[in-house]
Amino acid sequence: MLVTLEGLDGSGKTTVREALRNRFPDATYTREPTETWYGEAVRRSIGADDADPLAELFLYTADHAAHLTETIRPALNRGELVISDRYSDSRYAYQGVTLAGEVTRPIEYIRGIHEAFTRPPDLTLYLDLDPNTAADRAGATNKFERVDYLAKVQDNYERLIDAEPGRFTRIDATQSPEEVIARAETAIEQHLETWQKSRRLRPDVSRECSNAPYDGNSQFEYFAATYNRVSDSRIRQRLPKYQPLPGEWDTLTEYRSGAQPDPTAGRTPGRHSGNHCVSGSSYSSGGGT
Ligand code: TYD
Repeated sequence: MLVTLEGLDGSGKTTVREALRNRFPDATYTREPTETWYGEAVRRSIGADDADPLAELFLYTADHAAHLTETIRPALNRGELVISDRYSDSRYAYQGVTLAGEVTRPIEYIRGIHEAFTRPPDLTLYLDLDPNTAADRAGATNKFERVDYLAKVQDNYERLIDAEPGRFTRIDATQSPEEVIARAETAIEQHLETWQKSRRLRPDVSRECSNAPYDGNSQFEYFAATYNRVSDSRIRQRLPKYQPLPGEWDTLTEYRSGAQPDPTAGRTPGRHSGNHCVSGSSYSSGGGT
């Protein structure tokens, strides 16, 4: 399961991440910008007041691509909990501001670039802090830490939350560190519980398909198997080209409400041929450990 920490500079993400190590010692902890040479290139750009905004976006995005390949996907494939201090939403929120005037609809533009290869988070903890306090706490050490800039970044985060309220948990970052940490722990625990239940429900499908590309129809089975924990908008976001068969969404909706046991039971794999997620007995067995 992938959990990301997001928020303005100075919102306390790093404190939370460090505290979570005690509660979830087996998780993989990581961050963006990464500690690799890609991340190093990003940091050079952060330090350059005259950096080209589009070039900067692609540096961050290159760092994200390598992060996915080298850290995120391998850890998820091992079945680990992964906690990342900043992730793709930082790009949507921050570069969504620096690219205003450079490209039309910057957030949508950046999302479009990511959609082809990224792995969206399962849960995002948003540490909510007003821009004045954020700039004060961060000490305005880089070009991103100024109040007017952070106010726009905050607006972008709000837009992202509005678009996917189910993925975000908002945490008031003006509370004491103990309260913020407790809230973060509870949110992760609750989400983990649901996630583990869904893995028990369809263990093979979850494992097999976690590595498959999100390429439209072929991913349907994976989402059908985990539908009780994801929202329609999430499915539609990951499957932009998916054309449901007549009645398919209804079946899934009933499944989520508990009225139907399993939308993939007895399904004919033929329509999705070529995708290992639907082959063999992996999804027809159900049950699990
Ligand atoms: P941050 O994690 O806050 O670094 P540090 O712990 O060193 O303060 O990230 C550094 C800055 O980079 C921060 O101001 C936010 C910005 N940033 C982006 O603009 N876009 C991104 O995609 C990421 C990951 C960070």
